[in-house]
Amino acid sequence: MSAASTTQTLTAQELAQRRLASITGVDASGVRRAQNIKAIYVYEVPVRIWHWINVAAILTLCITGYFIGKPPPTMPGEASANYLMGYIRFAHFASGYILAVGLLGRAYWALVGNHHARELFSVPIFQKAYWREALNMVRWYMFLIPKPNQYVGHNPLARLVMFSGFLLTATYMIITGLALYGEGAQMGSWQERMFGWVIVLFGTSQDLHTWHRLGMWAMVIFITVHVYAAIREDIMGRQSMVSTMISGHRTFK
Ligand code: HEM
Repeated sequence: MSAASTTQTLTAQELAQRRLASITGVDASGVRRAQNIKAIYVYEVPVRIWHWINVAAILTLCITGYFIGKPPPTMPGEASANYLMGYIRFAHFASGYILAVGLLGRAYWALVGNHHARELFSVPIFQKAYWREALNMVRWYMFLIPKPNQYVGHNPLARLVMFSGFLLTATYMIITGLALYGEGAQMGSWQERMFGWVIVLFGTSQDLHTWHRLGMWAMVIFITVHVYAAIREDIMGRQSMVSTMISGHRTFK
């Protein structure tokens, strides 16, 4: 059999396979030809569980916190028949404790988990290479360069935003929140003993309410930027994002 007729036979086979693949969706030769997909395990189970619990807790805190500061108009009927603000405040406090305990657990995991688990807690600001890479990401977000680098952990700019926009803001909200809680729990409670000084630092209880509320808007800005950047990178960047926080694996394109 000549070489030309072998090619002919193979091409005919391929054509038949392709036709079958378009009917069944099963295309083994297509899969063989596909580029090898590389994946690196980045986010361990506790980090992923913590992330999604935090999403629920922070959303609850923002919505209930908003209504604590701006309560809904008077409910119909006897005041004693309604407990709406009670439920709203309970949901706020419960989510507040979930946020606080979760952050302590996450700090523990930074000590015992893989090196990606530590990225949230430090930013290498004294390294020239860090700023060079961060500036590159700024250019990428401003559509000034055609493609960014591929990042396994957080990209350098994301790392800065996670640290300042999330870690510092969350810590501030927990400290100011527990100080406000200490007022309700009254003198002698552990919240009042540990965080009572925060009210004095900010002036009055009303001042602290205002500063705690301002922190909510800082958190809302962080969430907006975070969600935008994650979806944008998933579509336009060179590695997976949202699915990585579900499966733990980062894939590259
Ligand atoms: C992302 C985190 C949080 C957000 C966005 C948030 C938001 C808010 C907002 C907007 C208010 C109303 C402030 C006002 O205008 O008077 C509030 C009140 C309050 N928050 Fe938070 N908060 C957070 C975390 C916490 C935490 C961790 C605690 C601790 C348990 C906490 C405890 C309180 C308390 C005790 C009040 C006052 C309740 C009242 O006066 O009835 N918050 N929060």
